[in-house]
Amino acid sequence: MSVVAVVGGQWGDEGKGKIVDLLAEKAHLVVRYSGGNNAGHTIMNEYGTFRLHLVPSGIFHSGVTCIIGNGVVVDPQALAEEMDDLRARGVDLSGLRISDRAHLIMPYHIALDALEEQARGAEAIGTTGKGIGPAFMDKIARNGIRVGDLMDRDSFARRLSAVLSVKNAIITKVYGGDAIDFDWVHDKYSAFGKEMGGYVTETQVLAQEAVQKGDSMLLEGAQGTMLDPDFGTYPFVTSSCPTAAGACSGLGIPPTALQRIVGVFKAYTTRVGGGPMPTELKDETGELIRERAHEYGATTGRPRRCGWFDGVAARHSARINGLTGIALTRLDVLDGFDTIRVCSAYEVEGRRYQYPPASVSVLAACRPVYEEVPGWSASTRGTRAPGDLPAEARAYVQRLSELIGCPMDVISVGPEREETITIRPL
Ligand code: IMP
Repeated sequence: MSVVAVVGGQWGDEGKGKIVDLLAEKAHLVVRYSGGNNAGHTIMNEYGTFRLHLVPSGIFHSGVTCIIGNGVVVDPQALAEEMDDLRARGVDLSGLRISDRAHLIMPYHIALDALEEQARGAEAIGTTGKGIGPAFMDKIARNGIRVGDLMDRDSFARRLSAVLSVKNAIITKVYGGDAIDFDWVHDKYSAFGKEMGGYVTETQVLAQEAVQKGDSMLLEGAQGTMLDPDFGTYPFVTSSCPTAAGACSGLGIPPTALQRIVGVFKAYTTRVGGGPMPTELKDETGELIRERAHEYGATTGRPRRCGWFDGVAARHSARINGLTGIALTRLDVLDGFDTIRVCSAYEVEGRRYQYPPASVSVLAACRPVYEEVPGWSASTRGTRAPGDLPAEARAYVQRLSELIGCPMDVISVGPEREETITIRPL
């Protein structure tokens, strides 16, 4: 393994956690490069079942350096809770490193996330409520406070005082909310600064040195390409760049360092929150997929919207990321369907689209053009070699690979590590 990015090919929740966990034991470095604790990677291993929101999945493997990169927004309260839970369950955190350039999620970001969503009314994005959008807004608007700022008490107090007075004016005067107390935030975040201090460093230097030495590095994506602010279903997107390009800027390594880019796709499609989803099934088939696959958010517990595989969104995503291979997850969820549908184009008012249109109102009006393929009755759960899959499942996987436009690396047929079919070793 060299430098491998694992990115979400759909609207998030593709099962990246399992794929990353499979790869993490072979890596010297495992990195989170975007998003924040809006992500939830479910991992099952010998320590138990974990829902990691910020800590990279490599933390379970001794000797692996786990970086929370500059492209992540860090809620220190959430991070402290996650670290406490991991410690309590016997996981060694000595390999964890946090970028001093990562921006902090502050209490006013969480308050504003809720107030802004309320104000959007029927147009609400359905955010995770973790303060992600407001924190990235402040980063770009140059009003952010970074992890490194907590290491300098005076400069932190000055910066917080300047920013908080503006935020409180917005919270109280624009939204009629309650002002946030300076001392409370200052003391709480200063304490976090002390707690996290030993883990904070210039993580881009660690990553650049690793690239130079030829160490293997795993870049762990959060969310999915269809939630990218530029190429997703804007404005129903997240606020950082979940793609392979985001991996470089969110860590501080050059694009030329990336050797493999694995796109993770579910064998069907899910989305959580608002915004168009052309293949959504609002019927008993969608319900069946949701219940069978337990499609409820790892971070918010919200039921996920379920639908057939969207080949248009998937191809778009493959091209944006420059995918070198696919990790297809949850194929077993489709066991037992008589027929399965796959969307190969969108159609609206007599026009066919082979890529998602920029306008969400056009996308919402798009009707999926489906191909119908035969399903399979046998369980795929015990399958470990591609040749052992039912012929119909093989044909389905082959068709997805053609639609996405890139080869399959692995197919996951269950949550456990060994429930995996390797086609091209990662
Ligand atoms: P935010 O990232 O909390 O601002 O939410 C923006 C949109 O991205 C909402 O539709 C969320 O449901 C969605 N979203 C954010 N994180 C995830 C994730 O990890 N999986 C799936 N959807 C996500």
